[in-house]
Amino acid sequence: MSEKILIIGANGQIGTELVTALRRIHGAEQVIASDINNPAYAIRNSGPFEFANVLDKETLHHLFQKHQPTQVYLLAAILSATGEQKPKMAWDLNMNGLIHVLDLALEFKTAKVFWPSSIAVFGPNSPKQNTPQYCVMDPNTVYGFSKLAGERWCEYYHAKHGLDVRSIRYPGIISWKAAPGGGTTDYAIHIFHEALKTGTYQSFLSTSTMLPMMYMEDAIRATISLMDAPIENLTIRSSYNLAGMSFTPEQLTQKIQQHLPDFTISYADNDPRQAIADSWPQTIDDSQARQDWNWQPEYDLERLTADMMENLKNSLNL
Ligand code: SER
Repeated sequence: MSEKILIIGANGQIGTELVTALRRIHGAEQVIASDINNPAYAIRNSGPFEFANVLDKETLHHLFQKHQPTQVYLLAAILSATGEQKPKMAWDLNMNGLIHVLDLALEFKTAKVFWPSSIAVFGPNSPKQNTPQYCVMDPNTVYGFSKLAGERWCEYYHAKHGLDVRSIRYPGIISWKAAPGGGTTDYAIHIFHEALKTGTYQSFLSTSTMLPMMYMEDAIRATISLMDAPIENLTIRSSYNLAGMSFTPEQLTQKIQQHLPDFTISYADNDPRQAIADSWPQTIDDSQARQDWNWQPEYDLERLTADMMENLKNSLNL
């Protein structure tokens, strides 16, 4: 069967690359990118694009009616750092956006829905090392508890209505094509830009703050593998833990210095994002994803750093 795929929030860090990957697999015309903002050149010129605000149910209804998607990816969200500045808006967008899409997916019999969750669903009392799939979850950011509530909605729509919703708890995603969207893990992208442009960077997270991270190639591969997995293999309908690697700003700095020996780093005091990072896991146990859909990351810190340096250098024309 030929798929018709709708991607909501297509202009973001993950959307930009997912649109490209899915257009390569299914053909450009089969993948409709949509966003509230004007798309980047690469998205606008490689296939269909529709403007949509995920909070505007009427426009979304029209999009579902017009395109009859067989798969929907809902990527529009307000991330952790921005969410703390606009808590009510983050809750509204992250929650009501999801419920709109789940309802429309039911109404239009969309075969599969993808919705991303995050390591932000864990909180200060969750185990920090090898954080398991099931444990205490007491997120203390609006982003985190909107994602946790979203996971509950996904599981609920699957249980009550048989909707095939699939989800991953993404770690911090590192990439060079599109800018990250206001998260706590964004330092690990900014650092590469500044290393190449100015040779120095002030990190808003402290030297030994370890967080789970993943290279974009792995994140896209994970997303598509989960969506392609046979339905009977899936045992988790909230959201799957997923791990790539874990590192601190200091460890990342050392790797960058293998490429740019003169690169220097300093550390900011009292950035509000530090408290967010301190409430999150350091390493993740993703054995369920490995078991259910053969998840296996390919990028470690060494490979990620080499790839980021090379691609960013070229894209910045340095
Ligand atoms: N990268 C996200 C953030 O920092 C985590 O999901 O908000």
